[in-house]
Amino acid sequence: VTGPALGDGTAFPKLFSPLRVGPITLRNRIVNLPQGMAYTNRGRVEEEDVEYHRRRAAGGAGLVITGGTAVAGSSQSRTRNFVEAYDPAVVDGVRRRSEAVHAGGAHIVGQLFDLGREMAAEAMTDTPISPTALRAPGARYAPMAMTSDQITGMVDSFRLSARHFAQGGCDGVEIHAAHGYLLAQFLSPASNRRDDGYGGDAVRRARALIDTVRAVRAEVGDDVLVGVRLSVDDELAGGTDPAQCRETIDLLLDAVAVDYLSLAVGAKGTYVQDSSVPEGVALDRIGAVTRGLAVPSVASQRIRRPEQAEQLLVAGVASLVGMARALIADPDWPRKAADGRPDRIRRCVGAMQDCRSHLAGGLRCTINPEVGHELDTARLRVNAVPVPARTSVAVVGGGPAGLEFARRAAERGRHVRLFEAGDKLGGQLLAASRAPGRGELADFANYQRTELRRLGVTVHLAAPVDDLSDVEGDVVVVATGATGAGTDPLPVPAASVWDVVHGPLPGADGPVLLLDDGRGEWASATAALLLAAAGRPVTMATAGGSIVAGIPAESAAGLRRRLRTAGVRWILDATYMGHDGVAAILCVNGTGDEVRVPAAAVIVESGRIPVDRLWRDAPPGRIVHAIGDARTPRTIGNAVRDAMVLDRRLGTTVRAA
Ligand SMILES: Cc1cc2nc3c(=O)[nH]c(=O)nc-3n(C[C@H](O)[C@H](O)[C@H](O)COP(=O)(O)O)c2cc1C
Ligand code: SF4
Repeated sequence: VTGPALGDGTAFPKLFSPLRVGPITLRNRIVNLPQGMAYTNRGRVEEEDVEYHRRRAAGGAGLVITGGTAVAGSSQSRTRNFVEAYDPAVVDGVRRRSEAVHAGGAHIVGQLFDLGREMAAEAMTDTPISPTALRAPGARYAPMAMTSDQITGMVDSFRLSARHFAQGGCDGVEIHAAHGYLLAQFLSPASNRRDDGYGGDAVRRARALIDTVRAVRAEVGDDVLVGVRLSVDDELAGGTDPAQCRETIDLLLDAVAVDYLSLAVGAKGTYVQDSSVPEGVALDRIGAVTRGLAVPSVASQRIRRPEQAEQLLVAGVASLVGMARALIADPDWPRKAADGRPDRIRRCVGAMQDCRSHLAGGLRCTINPEVGHELDTARLRVNAVPVPARTSVAVVGGGPAGLEFARRAAERGRHVRLFEAGDKLGGQLLAASRAPGRGELADFANYQRTELRRLGVTVHLAAPVDDLSDVEGDVVVVATGATGAGTDPLPVPAASVWDVVHGPLPGADGPVLLLDDGRGEWASATAALLLAAAGRPVTMATAGGSIVAGIPAESAAGLRRRLRTAGVRWILDATYMGHDGVAAILCVNGTGDEVRVPAAAVIVESGRIPVDRLWRDAPPGRIVHAIGDARTPRTIGNAVRDAMVLDRRLGTTVRAA
């Protein structure tokens, strides 16, 4: 395949060297790892899926691997959000996607999976299956223990699905045997308690995988890549570790020709790790497995910078660099690295708020609003407000919304000036990035700063705007954000979570009660961690059933651990009744029981209110728009998407003569 040329890649020579993998030669070592997007509700490759992958290939990746696709009804839920690889009707969409990826100069591999016991039985039409009827951690029901006929049937379903992908122009297929899914359930002693041909020792536990790869290889022949994805460490008690993984690999490679191995870590709940773990957190374990390996291997987990990628290749950890989120956040990552401009990369900030919240409508990204909206332009034109191309724009506010809008407007060739009241760009990102483990949020502000400089945007810092009449510009975009809602009507020494997070910390000593309003979002947890780090004993009380209710599950577990380690305690289902001068009185909802919590201060999460005066009191005759929290406070992702929506609406005009 050939696509538009990339830069010469001299800054990262190993990363941009081609590699022969089985029958094909990849243009570079960058692999777009599988990203299940849930862009369908009828089991097909939809146009959104095609566009999404077109974009990843055009950005310069060498190999694009698709998100997992179901090989049988046992891996599909009622909502049909997985592509159904077993249905011949899938081939047309697969072909359109393959062509789109090839047009961008990349090769494409389709991933095949059955989730086995990780499927939620209550959401399915079919039945979840597994080698043994052992409930997955967190699952409500145990899977059905497979008969040997069902195992043969599973092998055949992988074979048939592989055929459809080959017919649809894929360069290869990847068999997903990682992340604690069905084939991994066979491999791991934690989930396979059989004592027959498919379990009892390492050789028999590997048989289902080997049979599957053999059947797929026989089906697709030698001209189509066959890869296998494995977790080198499934991080389950009594599960697979790197030594066992290497044993499986040796058995597999002795039995059948495999073109590459994609090496991951973790199972459901841990296989995508947030910014609280170090970059490249799995590389030591992956390196232990790849030593002396005869086939190409892909490393993964928290790889997000070209320097890091080059380094792991030079160190011989793996022959290919796999990234999912880094390429969700910036599909042009490879192109920018090849141009020797790593500073221009919009680095994944590892917060997982949008990509792992599993909200209806499928994959989105906090800092890349295009994700999931590649085809939305027509819809977003509703209420379009056309403005001429040469318009000058004044953006008031340098938080995530204002920065994103300013960058986009400048990309369109508009003359942009940005006014920020503080002495730094970033707005609430700066406060959020103070939380332990969340420092990478500041990378988004740094990225925007670099881009605004490159695009010639005039940035005025320490420049509060009191009156829009003082601001020149054909269009004014108000992105003044939000402020804390205050502490009324608490009668005790009180501060708001907003005050704590935006610092400085309240001066007095003594224990603190932190009252969350039930949303369980990052602000409360951040305030608790900052106070605990300052030596204050902290109790959190929430009106809800969880102190981390608003945080994606994969981050929530680690956050609870950090809160516990910091000595933070919590009380659920609690209502604040008052303070007797020494302790706060809480009432436990439902029972009416009273709990006294010694507290020298009460910190309250009372939410945020928009700073909206400028746009609400805009002088008549001016074109003024509001974006981000200044409309109403929501997430960073919402703020950034507001900027995209407004930019697309304003950008619909025919260019001025
Ligand atoms: C939104 C999303 C969906 C994912 N879906 C899949 C999948 O279908 N199959 C798979 O093997 N891994 C899947 N993964 C895991 C990634 O391929 C990758 O292993 C993981 O995100 C760690 O790499 P990263 O730090 O580069 O994101 C998914 C990850 C994300 C963020
Ligand atoms: S949502 Fe956050 S964690 Fe996910 S890809 Fe985007 S920046 Fe990275």
